[in-house]
Amino acid sequence: MATEDFGFGDLLCALDSSDWSVALRAVAQSEMRLRNSILGDPEVEQLVAKLSSLASHSKWEVRRAVANAAAHAPHSVFEGVLARLALDDNRRVRQAAEYASLRRRDSRHASTLGKQHEERINSALDNIEVRFGPIGRDAVKRVSEQIANTFARELYHEVIKLLSPLAISAERLQKHLLEANLTAEPLVEEANRIGRRVNQLRAVLDGMRAYTAQPVLSFRPEVLHELVNEAAGLAIESNSDKTSCAPIEIRVSPSIDIDASRSRLVQAFTNILLNAIESYRDVDSLNPIGVSASVEERLVTITVDDAGCGMSAEAQRDALTLFSTSKSDGTGFGLPLAVKIVESEHGGRLHIDSVKGRGTSVRILIPKHREAESR
Ligand SMILES: Nc1ncnc2c1ncn2[C@@H]1O[C@H](COP(=O)(O)OP(=O)(O)OP(=O)(O)O)[C@@H](O)[C@H]1O
Ligand SMILES: [Mg+2]
Repeated sequence: MATEDFGFGDLLCALDSSDWSVALRAVAQSEMRLRNSILGDPEVEQLVAKLSSLASHSKWEVRRAVANAAAHAPHSVFEGVLARLALDDNRRVRQAAEYASLRRRDSRHASTLGKQHEERINSALDNIEVRFGPIGRDAVKRVSEQIANTFARELYHEVIKLLSPLAISAERLQKHLLEANLTAEPLVEEANRIGRRVNQLRAVLDGMRAYTAQPVLSFRPEVLHELVNEAAGLAIESNSDKTSCAPIEIRVSPSIDIDASRSRLVQAFTNILLNAIESYRDVDSLNPIGVSASVEERLVTITVDDAGCGMSAEAQRDALTLFSTSKSDGTGFGLPLAVKIVESEHGGRLHIDSVKGRGTSVRILIPKHREAESR
């Protein structure tokens, strides 16, 4: 098949060609145009009309190419086309039509989310402008853009860090496959390595999704003991080392209750307890992890003490930074998410005290009652 592109006029003629291979090439090229199209572009409208008529072409290859192209244009006429192609006699055409419909639904969803998101940000900025004037609005906007850019850059580096060894593994795999006396062992080893790296990549992306989620928070009085108990169960379940786990002693009075967004605070406690469990990985003893709580005036203090590896002063500073991890299977989202939940969502504070080789104490202070105004 020739690879040079048609000009627009030739493209329209090629779509009408009686030579199906020319028509097929023209549909593929139309797909590329649709990917970058803007709704209302008259040239695109002509292409869409031509492609719709090709949906009943006698060659299944052409019909499949039309379905593929329809995935990339929001034009409603393609909905009927895809509905017809979804009932096509040819399985490959049906599959392409199904995929195209899903893709169109996803991009519709994404653009709706984008709009809602933009509206939310603009209304927050309007509020800031009312209180602090246009200079305040601009300053907040600039800083938030910087934060977003930094986050995106860090995420990019983390993902690339995991992708590069994957590419090397793929190369090594290819080399092994070309070896004259091919044996299964190095192949299995390489495949396992790839599997581990893919899992790690998924963990980073899941961590990022959890960190950036903006769930609707609903605050109710909760029994603190129940929350800690639930978190301890989840942390033990999430511990990847199923052979040993330091016992968790919960010394929290069942009479303490606290205004909390339950699932979020459980998530924060789980992350902190999981870190405590994991801090025993290279430690011989399994001295218990202790969770205690006290109420003073209107503040509840929850303390998680472990006798694990502890941290140096520098490690302690790093611990709260996104992506900072000392574990081969860690993502570095656990503590930052806990801080976000405790401080931004619950109006509290999280402090860490740690001594390398001795253990760590995480202290969480949360107002027992929420202020009347919602956050
Ligand atoms: N209780 C603790 N004892 C010793 N080190 C800790 C403790 N809690 C956190 N850290 C240190 O802080 C780092 C960051 O913790 P964080 O929970 O954010 O990420 P992670 O545990 O490495 O990965 P993830 O939580 O995504 O599995 C850890 O890698 C560890 O070095
Ligand atoms: Mg962690």
